[in-house]
Amino acid sequence: MNVLEPWKEAQKISYSDRLKRFVYQQEEESLAGSLPRVLEQLPMKPTVMGIDSPHQMGDHTVYEMLTRGPFYCMTAHFTGVAPHSPVRGAHRHIVPPALFCTTGKGWEWNDGKTYNFEAYDLLLVPPYTIHQHGGDREIGCEIYVPETARVFHLLGLMRREQFKLNEKPAFPEGTEPIYDDAGKLIGYRIKKGVLGITKEIEVIFGAEPSADAAFQARCSAQPWKGEVKNSYDRYLSLYHSEIEFCRSVSHVAPEREQPWEWTPHGKLKWMVHPDTETATKDLWVYFQEIPPGSRSGQHRHASEEQILVLEGRGYDVHDGERWDWRQSDLICIPAMTTHQHFNRGESRALLLSSMPSVYMHLGLGGIEQIEDAPEYAEKGG
Ligand SMILES: [Fe+2]
Ligand SMILES: [Fe+2]
Repeated sequence: MNVLEPWKEAQKISYSDRLKRFVYQQEEESLAGSLPRVLEQLPMKPTVMGIDSPHQMGDHTVYEMLTRGPFYCMTAHFTGVAPHSPVRGAHRHIVPPALFCTTGKGWEWNDGKTYNFEAYDLLLVPPYTIHQHGGDREIGCEIYVPETARVFHLLGLMRREQFKLNEKPAFPEGTEPIYDDAGKLIGYRIKKGVLGITKEIEVIFGAEPSADAAFQARCSAQPWKGEVKNSYDRYLSLYHSEIEFCRSVSHVAPEREQPWEWTPHGKLKWMVHPDTETATKDLWVYFQEIPPGSRSGQHRHASEEQILVLEGRGYDVHDGERWDWRQSDLICIPAMTTHQHFNRGESRALLLSSMPSVYMHLGLGGIEQIEDAPEYAEKGG
C-alpha cells in the first residue's frame, strides 16, 4: 500500500495529523528523490484530438504528481501536426495554455480568431477560450506544451469541455464513439473498468450547462463603468479589467521580437513572465544559450523548473549531483535546488526553461544567485 494514497480504504485508520505530516513528508521526499532529473520524451501517438504524447511528468492532475519526474506542479506534453493531416479537435478549459512551436509553422484558433505562428514562437491562450491548432499544410508543425495545470486542479478549476474531435479520431482502448440517430458523432463513452470506474461515463461534445453561464458571462462582459468606492467594488471592477486585458493582448509572442540579454545566469531571452503583457499568467518561459565549453550561472529558487533541450548536449549539476542531457530531453529541477548547466558539445546549447508563476504570486518569486556565468563580467556586467 502506498502511504501517499490516503483515500484508499486501508489508510482510513485514524492516526493523528501531527504524526501524518512527518510520515507524508518523509515518503514524499523519498519518492521525489528516487525519480530521475533528466527524462527522454515519451513518444506521440494518435488520440481523439490528433497526434499527442502522454503527459511527460504524469497527467496534469494532482493524482499524478511525483510519478515520472520529481515534480509536484509541472508537466508537459507534445503535439504533432504532420503535413496534410486531418484537422485537430477543439476544446475549452479554464487553465490558460502556453504552446511553444518547436518545428514548422501553423495556426491557432481562439474563440473565432486565428493567430499564425512559426518555429520558436510562443502561443499564449487566455483562460476560458475554445482553442484549436493546426500546422501549415505543406510542412506541419510540432508543439511543446509546458503546463502548470495541477495548480488549477488544487484551486478547483480543472474543468475541461470537448467541442470537436479530430477529423479522424483514434479512440483509445476502453472507449467507443457515440452517434446520434442521424449517424452524427456526438461524443464517446468511457467503459466500466477504465481507471477503476464502476459505471461507464459518456463524454458528450459541447459546453457543460453548469459551467457555461460563467464562461458566457466572461465572453460578453463590457468595461467597468462604475465608481470604486470600497473594497468590494475593487473586485467588481477587477472582473471587468481581467476580461478587457485578455481581449486586448496578443496571443502570440514571436521569438524574433524578444531581445537576448546577458545576465548573471548567462545569455537569456525571455518569452513571458508575470510582468509581461500577456494573458498567460501562470508561466515564466525563457531561452538560455550556452556557448560551447561554457556554463550557466549557478542559482537557486523556490520554483520548480522544467527545461526542454532544444539544441546541444551537456549536463546539469543539482545540489552537487551530475545529470547528463542531450537534445530533446526534459530536465527537471525540483523546488529549492541549487543548479547549473554545462555545455559539453562543440556548438551552442539552447535550452527552453519554464517555471510556474504561482510561487511569485505567493511572495516566493525571487532568485538567489550563487555564481555568475563566466561571460557575464565581460558582456553584461
Ligand atoms: Fe487545451
Ligand atoms: Fe533556474
